[in-house]
Amino acid sequence: MNQRAISRACWVVMSVGLAACADDGDGAGAGGAGGGVGDVTYYQDVAPILNRSCAGCHQTGQIGGFSLDTYESAKASAGVLAANAESGVMPPFDAVETDECDPPGTWRDDPRLSDDEKETLRAWADAGAPEGDPNDATPAEPIPPPELDRVDLELTRDVPSTISGDVDLFHCVTLDPAFAEPTWVDGIHINVDNPLVAHHAITSIVKRADAPGADGEVTDCFGGTAGIMVHGWVPGGKPFDLPPGVGISIQPDEVLVVQMHYHPTGTSVEEDASSIQLRLAQTAPSWELFVQLRGNASNASEGLLPGPNDTAEPEFLVPANVEGHVEEMQYTVPEVGPEGLPLLFVGGHMHYVGRDFKVTLSGAEDECLLQIPEWDFNWQLFYQYDAPIEGLPRLRTGDTLRLRCTYDNSMGNPFLGKALDEQGLAAPVDVTLGEASLEEMCIVALGVLVPVP
Ligand code: HEC
Repeated sequence: MNQRAISRACWVVMSVGLAACADDGDGAGAGGAGGGVGDVTYYQDVAPILNRSCAGCHQTGQIGGFSLDTYESAKASAGVLAANAESGVMPPFDAVETDECDPPGTWRDDPRLSDDEKETLRAWADAGAPEGDPNDATPAEPIPPPELDRVDLELTRDVPSTISGDVDLFHCVTLDPAFAEPTWVDGIHINVDNPLVAHHAITSIVKRADAPGADGEVTDCFGGTAGIMVHGWVPGGKPFDLPPGVGISIQPDEVLVVQMHYHPTGTSVEEDASSIQLRLAQTAPSWELFVQLRGNASNASEGLLPGPNDTAEPEFLVPANVEGHVEEMQYTVPEVGPEGLPLLFVGGHMHYVGRDFKVTLSGAEDECLLQIPEWDFNWQLFYQYDAPIEGLPRLRTGDTLRLRCTYDNSMGNPFLGKALDEQGLAAPVDVTLGEASLEEMCIVALGVLVPVP
């Protein structure tokens, strides 16, 4: 069952009128179910959950589209918000456990609600969204602001991007720290200027000679840039705050390229001049973070395994109108020393045809590192394991890394419909490797820690 499709349908209804969707919410308005229902009120029980887990994106000027930060606004969508919380669609988080993938440990900054919190929202909606007494409200827990504790350097662009119309824009911003010597960075944060339109940002470290522009310059770019992705930001995303003792080294001949994905409001002309903030390491780290990309992208198709629809050699081709087409890739971890290398985070990358992403590691043990069973191009981020360095999964010499990307190149895929529309196409076309929105990739990003000699 495609939960997102349901919620999207809901969203369409919501923009027309909340009530229709709220009435659809299963069980909404039934009342009386479960113990203590009558006791659940907005001010005592619901506001603390919504303020902590939802209001960051659901308030005026933020990407969530409608507010959930007052009693009136929460009441208006009580049924649908409970339904979205129960199904796990909200807050958005795509690295979920499945029957075939139980990733090691837990994720850092996992925003998902607990079962108790979901039950509280449901009980509140079922009881008719009682307000309670504002004078007796549960005190708000302080929410840590989404910023670095210290900013040593902020890199800004020359001119803002203008975002209007109804087609998503992809702008690459080249930002040159002009370091005179190799410099350790241990924190990165996108300082978002206009959260109404900034949908996600991918930061890469790129050789200056390969950068798409000069310092501060903005260029169009849908596909990847040269270089190595180090950070993915989505609305509500936390700063990239490396664990103590871990750093990223930026060389004098390297610059940062931030690819901003803008989603126009459809009704207004907006500007955005988001910048990037860096925290420099104060002592030399003992681990260097290297982001390794493996998989199939625009010009590389190594490791590809034989699959359906291949003619002779393994071929990366997602035929038009095929749902559930699978491409798989396999790699052997090279010699990495007797202790192996700790893996700090993992992320996936596909475009609009991609539907399911899975990566496993097998050796002495078999581990599923990550699955994103409902791939959403708009919510790409790196998933960080929440463990001390000794407790992180490790890549060991000779282990087998396996990627599985599943595509839906049929009109049943809502993302594809939108991408086709934007290209003025009425029906799916064969999809091959490439950078464009109607081409595909299957890439894993592995945040590998290497001891600093
Ligand atoms: C990280 C940002 C973010 C957070 C946190 C968040 N939302 Fe959303 N929400 C969105 C966006 C963006 C949409 C618009 C639809 C989409 O893109 O999926 C949305 C849509 C919705 C909708 C409309 C129906 C739908 O699913 O499309 C509801 C209801 C909702 N959110 C409830 C919640 C609740 C309840 C919480 C907290 C438990 C929450 N949201 C937390 C970003 C967020």
